[in-house]
Amino acid sequence: MDSLTTCMETIPYSRQWIDEEDVEAVCRVLRSDWVTQGPTLASFENALAKRAGVKRAVAVSHGTAALHLSYAALGVEKGSVGITTPITFAATANAFRYCGAEVRFCDVDPLTGNMDPASLSQVIEETSLDRDKTNLVVPVSYAGRLAPLDKIEEVATKAGCQVVEDAAHSLGSYGQGGMSASASCENSVSAVLSFHPVKHLCTAEGGAVVTNDDALAERMSCLRSHGISRSSIEGENSTNMPGWHYEQKELGWNYRMTDLQAALGLGQLDKLDFFLERRRALASRYGEALAQAPFSEFLDLPPSEEGHAHHLYVVLFKDPALRDSCYEFLKKRGIHCQVHYIPVYRHPYYEGILGRQRLPGAESFFSRCLSIPLFPKMTDEEQERVLEELAAFHGAA
Ligand SMILES: Cc1ncc(COP(=O)(O)O)c(C=O)c1O
Repeated sequence: MDSLTTCMETIPYSRQWIDEEDVEAVCRVLRSDWVTQGPTLASFENALAKRAGVKRAVAVSHGTAALHLSYAALGVEKGSVGITTPITFAATANAFRYCGAEVRFCDVDPLTGNMDPASLSQVIEETSLDRDKTNLVVPVSYAGRLAPLDKIEEVATKAGCQVVEDAAHSLGSYGQGGMSASASCENSVSAVLSFHPVKHLCTAEGGAVVTNDDALAERMSCLRSHGISRSSIEGENSTNMPGWHYEQKELGWNYRMTDLQAALGLGQLDKLDFFLERRRALASRYGEALAQAPFSEFLDLPPSEEGHAHHLYVVLFKDPALRDSCYEFLKKRGIHCQVHYIPVYRHPYYEGILGRQRLPGAESFFSRCLSIPLFPKMTDEEQERVLEELAAFHGAA
């Protein structure tokens, strides 16, 4: 470890907040008869659906599983096309590849990192979509800012595509001017959540799909458990079947969430408003400070927005050349930032499939962005330290 960082606490860009009540809730499940897929999982799913304002939630082992399940259950297969944003974690695109589908990337707003509906329209025009297949558009409400879901839905619907919102960053965010809340499924058939420790809720690993479509929820529940479902047996000659009988109707996976994770999720969900309030307070302090000198001399800020859920606090360097030196400067002083994201089309795997692609909005955003620390447990003192070190970077640059 560097000598500068040995005497200081490291500040990560994000981390979970698990308290003693959460620990006790998990221990209660450990002492009970059910540790997998029992009553706590059902309670978590009901609470999550209620919180998102939708009919159903299907909780799974991680957000990537939630993406895969939602695409597969909608019928994505070989010959389908999935259009998404390159400013996301690779999982949003990878889940299409698990289904054998093609992936296309459309551009983003260079200031917010969110999908640009005009670029979506253009990509759809340039892509030959087989209308007999399920084709999806998957916007990400990046960093916690609601993507322009109403416009995206309009463009997608005209082309016969369905919309799945990747809401891994945005539980609790809402839009301006009457736009719907993230994960409310008002402009999408389903929405995907992640409960990775850096996200709004932590279940260690974990994720969920929320939807208003009962049939879709049933299919996802069946597919998360190998394609075996009790309800698929009920009704069809069920009275003639012995109690031990079960049937696999189609090929699924083991994407089940445990009751241990669900117990943690329930406790975390109870604290979601508190977490959001703290994230918004920290973001507001950053916003005030960074809009002034010396920060305003070298940083731009994405536009502020009331309903932003602030999963990440992203700053944009006026001069992209300074981004990496600032990252290294802060790291030496125990402040660990991150770049969200390398555009997914730049990864060798996708270049191997799609060839070299460079979208101007995504490239501009990528070259300038840095996520600086923001998480509910961050103290005011830690935030001041980040600001002081950013100012010191400017002084030294
Ligand atoms: C936008 C986005 N989608 C999907 C995922 C995948 O979630 P998980 O890590 O829970 O599999 C992530 C996780 O980082 C993400 O940021």
